[in-house]
Amino acid sequence: MDKALYAVVGNPISHSKSPRIHGLFAKQTGEDLEYIAIQAPIDDFSDVVRDFFERGGLGLNVTVPFKEEAWKLADRRTGRAGKAGAANTLYLDKDRQLTADNTDGAGLVADLVDNHGVSLSGARILVLGAGGAVRGVLGPLLQQKPASLTIANRTVAKAQGLVLLFAEDAGQAAVDACGFATPDTPFDVIINGTSASLQGDLPPLAPAVVGPGTVVYDMMYSLDATPFNQWALEQGAERVFDGLGMLVEQAAESFRVWRGLSPDTAPVIEELRTT
Ligand code: ATR
Repeated sequence: MDKALYAVVGNPISHSKSPRIHGLFAKQTGEDLEYIAIQAPIDDFSDVVRDFFERGGLGLNVTVPFKEEAWKLADRRTGRAGKAGAANTLYLDKDRQLTADNTDGAGLVADLVDNHGVSLSGARILVLGAGGAVRGVLGPLLQQKPASLTIANRTVAKAQGLVLLFAEDAGQAAVDACGFATPDTPFDVIINGTSASLQGDLPPLAPAVVGPGTVVYDMMYSLDATPFNQWALEQGAERVFDGLGMLVEQAAESFRVWRGLSPDTAPVIEELRTT
């Protein structure tokens, strides 16, 4: 094999923006690498991974529906992948052991804090959802030392499970779980990590959770304002962001893990936004 080979694995995969993002990173940093998309059969993810690394591939991104399987398959896990229960990045470490990392939370924090100047330290944060996407970002969010972190979910028991799982990561933050209708005072930051909008639904929040200074982040992205962000603007949110920046930032963090280089994300986000 000539060039260093990387890939994203998912099913379906044709919509993935990762080859384009990593292609832009490679061009920008002058790294000689190839990044392809691989559609793995639903029941054969592990063979695809083994084959990729046996053929000399250097790193994989993993997307829906294989993130949990990637985490289980790995021989080793990084600290931040441990509790995430899911991996979006795989590579062989110096002992050639299959290692799972999760860069989603770092991507979310980088987009909020570095790109948008949102301070999470001391913030009152409301996180919506308690599925894989939320589990993957809770550790990095708590590392920012918020004043409080409330996890609201349709199935409250799942939110309570996450509170228990991350109890020792909470530090001074007050972490609690509830249903969507319970919170009734403004938060500094609201992060939507549910997949409700895929079904055209909105989590039934009280309008009072949005105050004039509230920043809203939808982990989904779309060309227009997402339905959740549209709702938040109607309630008077100060600023709303979608997850395109998170997508590029999690890719940049994977690139750093694999190549030891930090790409400049701003022009890549701009290019994806406009074309
Ligand atoms: P993901 O990997 O995207 O997190 P997931 O693990 O299936 O996918 O989790 C989906 C999340 O979106 C869950 O929090 C789910 O709520 P439940 O735990 O109650 O199932 C939430 N969700 C999905 N559809 C929803 C809807 N129509 N309204 C509100 N929440 C919804």
